[in-house]
Parts: sequence; structure tokens; C-alpha cells
Amino acid sequence: MKRDFLELSDFTAAEHAALFRRARELKEARRRGEVVSTLAGRTLLLLFEKHSTRTRLSFEAAIGQLGGSAVTLPMQDSQISRGESLADTGAVASRYVDAIMYRTFGDDRLRELARAATVPVINGLSDGGHPVQLLADLFTVEERLGSLGGKVVTWVGDGASNMALSWIEAARLFEFTLRISAPEGFRPIRGSGFELVADPREAVRGADVVTTDVWISMGQEKEAAARRKAFAGYCVDEALLSRAKPSAIVLHCLPAHRGEEISAGVIDGPRSAVLDEAENRMHVQKALLEALILRR
Ligand code: CP
Ligand code: NVA
Repeated sequence: MKRDFLELSDFTAAEHAALFRRARELKEARRRGEVVSTLAGRTLLLLFEKHSTRTRLSFEAAIGQLGGSAVTLPMQDSQISRGESLADTGAVASRYVDAIMYRTFGDDRLRELARAATVPVINGLSDGGHPVQLLADLFTVEERLGSLGGKVVTWVGDGASNMALSWIEAARLFEFTLRISAPEGFRPIRGSGFELVADPREAVRGADVVTTDVWISMGQEKEAAARRKAFAGYCVDEALLSRAKPSAIVLHCLPAHRGEEISAGVIDGPRSAVLDEAENRMHVQKALLEALILRR
């Protein structure tokens, strides 16, 4: 039976711990210049319905460095954009490749492709979550601050975004405290296990990790003006960050809009971990590809 990674809860806490251990090994091996060829001869399909820089680069580099290869198929170049079904696409692609990463809009599309595919499907961002980004984020927190247990993570901004929804899922699995600070109308409509703190200054007080994301996610461009207005006051800037722990780190999945959701001083400052976070996408995804393709 193939296994998918559509959301964080597709892996148990113990499996996540094993994934992070392997990601650490792979990161170290790369640092030493060692070649690891565990996925030699394997092929990964990257199917994109939305733009991407990091996801494409990090998955292509991950499979390539492990000895395999990637085929990147933007939706507009595929027959899907001319009406071929996701079911046929998933079934046919499974005859060529060993795993499929899919970046899409609704989670129904993700699940439809996953149902038809006989190889593992990885969620490379959907409206409902961005689990591979969370793998990198959680790995980065552990790398910088040690165990996640008992840490306080504050999310500032769009509390209904794919990233916020994945943080909510992560808090349940990894048992840290999650505070969400979002304006009315942009708060999570489902889920539990987080504290809603309307005032971002209160939410950030004593936090170990402060994290945010764009105010206008892909597909929401028409709402840009209304969103900018609603989120004014939710910028992660130096004044806000000064209320967090002195050891606090700042995460952002990128791409960022300096001067909107985060100030240049914060994202480019000493407490920002965003470049490690971006790099770690590749290391955790290597471990994930091995786990799914080799069933480790
Ligand atoms: N963080 C992230 O997924 O970036 P891209 O949209 O560039 O892939
Ligand atoms: N919330 C953002 C994340 C981009 C990586 C979006 O969906 O556009």
C-alpha cells in the first residue's frame, strides 16, 4: 500500500521524530560533502497549479542529490488545463514516476489526485495547509531552540491561511503552545488546541517563536486592498518583537513582503531564521521522499 503525505497527521509523532533524525543526518552528510544515493533511479513528478520558487527548487535539488530525478509540470503545460481529469492524470503518472508532489487550490483536488495515484502523493501547498513547510519550520525550531515541547509559538497575521492551519495541526502533534493573533474575519474557523489572542502585542509576550506569512495568499489577489486594510497593525516589526523572549526566533515561509506583514529590520535582522528555514525544506523533504518511496 502506498502512503501519502497530505497533512502532518499522516505521520505519527514517532514517525515525525524519525524523519527529523534522518533529515539531520542528511544535512550533516551534505555538509561533509558526502554523496547519498538512496533514491538512484527514482523519479519525482512536481505538479504545480500555483507559482513556486522554494518548493520547486528544494524538491528538485532533494531528489537530484539523492541520485534520482524530477519532472516539473506546470499545470498550464499539461492536459489538465485542457480538461483531462485529475484521476486519469494521477493514474497515468503513477506508471512513470515513484512519487508525486502536487501544489493546488482546494484540498478536494489534492485528495482526488491522491485517490487515483498508486504512488505516494505529497501536498506541496493547498488551501488547507502547507505541511512540507511546517516540517522545515519545526525542524528549524528544534535546531535553534531544542525540543518543541513546552515552547510558545505566536502566529501573527492571517489566521485562516494554509500556513496558520498547518501550525494549528502541528501544535496538536508536537505539544507546544500556539497563540494566534489575527483580525476578526481572518481567524481559524475550525480546529482547537490554540489560544486566540486578538492583540498581537499580548500574543507575542514571552514567545519563543514569532511567525507570520503574507496577507494576500496566492489566489486572493482580488481581495488585496481589503486585506491590507484588515491586517494593518499586524506587522511583525521591531517594537512587536521586543515583547518576545530575548532568545526568540522569527520564521516566515517566504516569499515575504517587507513593510507589510514583516519589517525589513526583523526579517533581515539577527533573530530571523528564515534562510535556515528555507534551506531546511530540502533536508526534511529528502527524509520525507526516502520515507515514502523506500517505505522507511
Ligand atoms: N515557502 C514556499 O513554499 O515557497 P514557494 O512558494 O516559493 O515554493
Ligand atoms: N500563504 C501563502 C504561502 C506561500 C508559500 C500562499 O498560499 O500564497
